[in-house]
Amino acid sequence: MYKGSARAYTNIALIKYWGKKNEELILPMNNSLSLTLDAFYTETSVTFEPNQTADHFVLDGVVQDEKATKKISRFLDLAREKAQVNWGAVVESRNFVPTAAGLASSASGLAALATASNAALNLGLDDRGLSRLARRGSGSACRSLFPGFVEWEQGEDDETSFAQQIPSNDWEQDLAMLFVLINDQQKDVSSRDGMRRTVATSSFYPGWLASVPTDLAHAKSAIATQDFTALGEVTEANGLKMHATTLGAVPPFTYWSPDSLVAMNLVRQLRQIGLECYFTMDAGPNVKVLCQRKDEDALKQALSQHFAPERLILAHAGYGATVI
Ligand code: ADP
Ligand code: DP6
Ligand code: CO
Repeated sequence: MYKGSARAYTNIALIKYWGKKNEELILPMNNSLSLTLDAFYTETSVTFEPNQTADHFVLDGVVQDEKATKKISRFLDLAREKAQVNWGAVVESRNFVPTAAGLASSASGLAALATASNAALNLGLDDRGLSRLARRGSGSACRSLFPGFVEWEQGEDDETSFAQQIPSNDWEQDLAMLFVLINDQQKDVSSRDGMRRTVATSSFYPGWLASVPTDLAHAKSAIATQDFTALGEVTEANGLKMHATTLGAVPPFTYWSPDSLVAMNLVRQLRQIGLECYFTMDAGPNVKVLCQRKDEDALKQALSQHFAPERLILAHAGYGATVI
């Protein structure tokens, strides 16, 4: 029997990953840049047993159906192949984050599973190898191995597509991200399906893609100079452009709900009265607001006029994935 357990935190992209150039290897169309957070995470243990033929996947105490288990099996096959082991596995995972709600459960979930598998099967993968393995499960997961600001270099093949931490002199410790939980139920269009449809059909997609390198350069120089205004502005603009691409897809779709717009407008109003904050959104209706730590109480107070306090969750810079 081989067993390993791990914890990994979610990350939220400031420059978004949106679209794949290779679906099988999960190679992205563009580089992305994220902040790993401390508020949401996944704990996973995986046990490979010699006389086990099938895999079993239990998430939050619920035995998962064939489709969900198959996804896990395909991922475990990659680890089994590296270890030259053909044993079935039991995967038990707990999400301390709502699942499939646009809050990055696939990032923490697959980063935890990759880290647990590496430990269980003694794969001996280094940071880069682990990031590459996690990427095969969910693209955003390759960034969740690392703390702080992280860039995923798109690369051109399996070897060259991985994430690494960006030096920041710990500037991320001065920042905070407030989550406005608008809906924590499972979304209708998964990230995977949403980006696939957008790449294949949206006439706005080429415009998005062309704009990413400049946004990324601005974000990296803002981190290097600790310029919060510059980082906030490019974060908000980049997220809006990503979401604009979905409206040009066939058929069109959006992850926004009326309350997402309420939150976005509030952020703009707060900025006008001198409370500096910027929003971003992922594949779901929830809004994430980036601010400086010194302003987090004022921001939470202001947003609680419109959203119930239990719907506002404060996060700070989080940790890399660890074996537990
Ligand atoms: P999210 O916004 O939560 O990342 P996605 O659509 O990207 O949503 O991914 C959701 C999928 O991620 C789930 O359907 C499941 O396949 C996978 N996932 C989420 N949590 C876990 C976990 N703890 N272990 C394994 N897979 C997970
Ligand atoms: C909008 O990593 O969840 O959150 O690679 O298909 O599993 P798959 O998708 P996923 O996509 C995340 C998309 C995003 C932006 C981001 O996190 O960069
Ligand atoms: Co995801």
